[in-house]
Amino acid sequence: MASFFSSLLFFALLISATNAQTTPTLPIWKDMKTSQFYTTIQMGSNLVAINAVIDLGGPFLWFACNDYVSNTYAPIPCGSTKCEVAKGIGCVGCNLPPRPGCTNDTCGASPYNPFMDMLVSQGYAEDTFYMKDRLSLPDFSFSCMDKDFLEGLASGSTGMLGLARTDISFHKQAAHRFNLPDKFSLCLPSSGIGKLSVGVSPFSGSLKTTPLIINPVSTYPIYVTGEPSDEYFIDVRSIRVEGKPLSVKNSYFSIDENGVGGTKISTIRNFTALHNSIYKPFTRAFLKAAADMKIKSIAAVPPFRACFSSDSISRTPAGPSAPTIDLVLPGNDVYWRINGGNSLVEIDQKTTCLAFVDGGSNPRTSIVIGAHQLEENLLEFDLVSSQLRFSSSLLVQNNSCSRL
Ligand SMILES: *[C@@H]1O[C@H](CO)[C@@H](O)[C@H](O)[C@H]1NC(C)=O
Ligand SMILES: *[C@@H]1O[C@H](CO)[C@@H](O)[C@H](O)[C@H]1NC(C)=O
Ligand SMILES: *[C@@H]1O[C@H](CO)[C@@H](O)[C@H](O)[C@H]1NC(C)=O
Repeated sequence: MASFFSSLLFFALLISATNAQTTPTLPIWKDMKTSQFYTTIQMGSNLVAINAVIDLGGPFLWFACNDYVSNTYAPIPCGSTKCEVAKGIGCVGCNLPPRPGCTNDTCGASPYNPFMDMLVSQGYAEDTFYMKDRLSLPDFSFSCMDKDFLEGLASGSTGMLGLARTDISFHKQAAHRFNLPDKFSLCLPSSGIGKLSVGVSPFSGSLKTTPLIINPVSTYPIYVTGEPSDEYFIDVRSIRVEGKPLSVKNSYFSIDENGVGGTKISTIRNFTALHNSIYKPFTRAFLKAAADMKIKSIAAVPPFRACFSSDSISRTPAGPSAPTIDLVLPGNDVYWRINGGNSLVEIDQKTTCLAFVDGGSNPRTSIVIGAHQLEENLLEFDLVSSQLRFSSSLLVQNNSCSRL
């Protein structure tokens, strides 16, 4: 009996020890020039270092394979189980000398570069993916990309790391490998080093919770009819500026049967884009609330429509002091508060603007929450319970992504 308990105890200790060691984690940096966020990974037998831009709505990892050399690289054959899991489309071949990214009978992939708005026909492959501490994910599925299609990516980046709700996104493959629940947390830093971690939360403070909802129609540029979107949508019901709800038709906030409308979260849009019919009353309300706070409005600098004299804005340790913006969510008193640090952007020493842009009068998605509004906010995507947990600005709690 005693030995049964001690072996149970030993087992429990072993489990917690392995857990402590195996939280798959990636560092995140901000590229100041493009406002993109990227991570560094190592791939294959030669541990090739790759900078990949974080794409929350991207379905999988892709990177330029033109000069890639690895003994452990293998194309994923068409018709294989791995091809099915990747939802590969068709079978691709190549008439040039064989190399990674140029093989016959390969499961078809369609990596997309959103900055070029370009979809490319390539093949899926697998190789070992290394994180810091040499934590590895063997046989990691990804797609090659041709190096001619890297335009728009932050300088030094040759790929994108997808975190969407697919079976071959980074978090899904990492959670599967380490037997962790399919959850990941994302903290985009305004400076310093942020963090992407899978399975276990790096944060012990309190978070608010809202359901992640499914858009019934895919938002990827290529898809099979009837497939839902793999991107992350939340059910914003209204927007308040300094406590006052905007008067906007409810229909913009919901998603219709064609997948139009609603609110999604994006790490590749630098500023939140609002449907024109939301943007207009939103800017008006913000200008009015700012005037009430004696913040001086000045000529707007495109693409922004509301800009202010930086001198007239007072500073707090959590960033500039500005009218509060709340994204109101379902439930009793649940809202995502956006403070000055996330609502305003300094264009130059004298000019600070409301960091939201006009999404036009016919956008696919009414509200696309962009990266500037996500900075220094901890977001936990729990795909087991289909919930998003969020902190709002960590700076308000005297914390930051780089300190988690
Ligand atoms: C925001 O993104 C657009 C489009 O990708 C880009 O042209 C612009 O330079 C970015 N702005 C900033 C301030 O990073
Ligand atoms: C693919 O098959 C074709 C036809 O058999 C052949 O000419 C070509 O060299 C092959 N390509 C590669 C990359 O092996
Ligand atoms: C904020 O956190 C830092 C580092 O943890 C600490 O040194 C400082 O005293 C804190 N400031 C306040 C006002 O709590």
